[in-house]
Amino acid sequence: MNNFRWPLIQNNITDGDKTALVKHIMTSDRFTQGEKVKKFEQEWSKWLGVKHSIFVSSGSAANFLTLSALRDMAGVGEVIVPPLTWVSDIVSVIENGFTPVFVDINPETLALDYEGVKKAITKNTKAVFLTHILGLNGLNVQFLDLLKKQKIPLIEDACESHGAKMGSKKVGSIGFASNFSFYYGHHMTTVEGGMVCTNDPEFAQLVRIKRGHGLLRESTDSAHLQKHLNNSKQVYKEFDFPVVGFNFRNNELGAVLGLNQLKRLDKNNAQRTLRLQRFLKGLDKKTYFTQYHTKGSSSYALLLQIRSEKSSLKSQVEKVLSDLGVEYRRGMSGGGNQLRQGFLKTRGIDIDPTKYVNTEQIHQNGFYIGNFPSLPMKWIDQLCKALNEVAK
Ligand SMILES: Cc1ncc(COP(=O)(O)O)c(C=O)c1O
Repeated sequence: MNNFRWPLIQNNITDGDKTALVKHIMTSDRFTQGEKVKKFEQEWSKWLGVKHSIFVSSGSAANFLTLSALRDMAGVGEVIVPPLTWVSDIVSVIENGFTPVFVDINPETLALDYEGVKKAITKNTKAVFLTHILGLNGLNVQFLDLLKKQKIPLIEDACESHGAKMGSKKVGSIGFASNFSFYYGHHMTTVEGGMVCTNDPEFAQLVRIKRGHGLLRESTDSAHLQKHLNNSKQVYKEFDFPVVGFNFRNNELGAVLGLNQLKRLDKNNAQRTLRLQRFLKGLDKKTYFTQYHTKGSSSYALLLQIRSEKSSLKSQVEKVLSDLGVEYRRGMSGGGNQLRQGFLKTRGIDIDPTKYVNTEQIHQNGFYIGNFPSLPMKWIDQLCKALNEVAK
């Protein structure tokens, strides 16, 4: 049997990226947040189709800042979240004083289920925090209409879905705010990094300030700056902290890398998408679930899900992956059902995870496998063949 040595993550930092980094190091004295960060934020906004982007130290930092700013603008209350997401989404909700209201996922989008969200909305709902999973678009018009009618802001976690689209709009440009991650293994990377994006000018300035310790002078809008100056208590204007803040800044080297990587993002995404299509087409539909809503998707990873009635095949499927040298993760995004994780109990949250049946199915029978633009199609075909053999 072949051993592909098929990694979960393939290095996406090219010689061209390295040359750009070296050029910056040799020709500039500026390494902390400066002009390159500003340029990357502008280019990213243009690519995504939003007015404002704020480059931060990670996707988790983007999650945290977004919820912190939401608290300042709307006060605390309930935030609807899925149990299938990354841990930082839920931690950001809780640690910013909100109550997480968990709603199960839709099996085809792997994102929050419309009917579940509709039922979970109350007069205390401050936001719906939706995660687009592994390159799939989790939104549709019906979903957006509901939130618009109820006047509930949508926060999109697009950390795994750079370039995925709903119709002609990129995910991350649709809601009130959105979050991206540029961690090493994602569609594009700044090694560590993230972005908060929005069309709302007040929210953008608030996030900008919060990113840099809560310092008012981080604001880039002079009218906003004047409005929030602390004139009453004699603080020094260089050290005016009007809001709770953190240090979640990124730096010039991250931005140089981001600017270079952004140039080839669309091209790479097209290759990733072809590979996901090939994989889903090649799998035996009686054994594996493949009916994902892939329209407009920009695959992050290959989605492998054993149908619930075939779950007894799990150990054999794992053996095939291991024997072929295919690195994989169980539970798909973030390791599956977050309601099974211990951290929730430390904050007094103890919910029966098995009530969320669609998330449970992913937890028990879902996997993801590395997908990258140069992944040989031949490997995908051979893997599908071996996976299909298991069921015979
Ligand atoms: C959906 C989602 N949100 C947030 C994050 C956090 O991003 P980071 O690793 O950059 O902190 C991740 C990480 O991969 C993620 O998948």
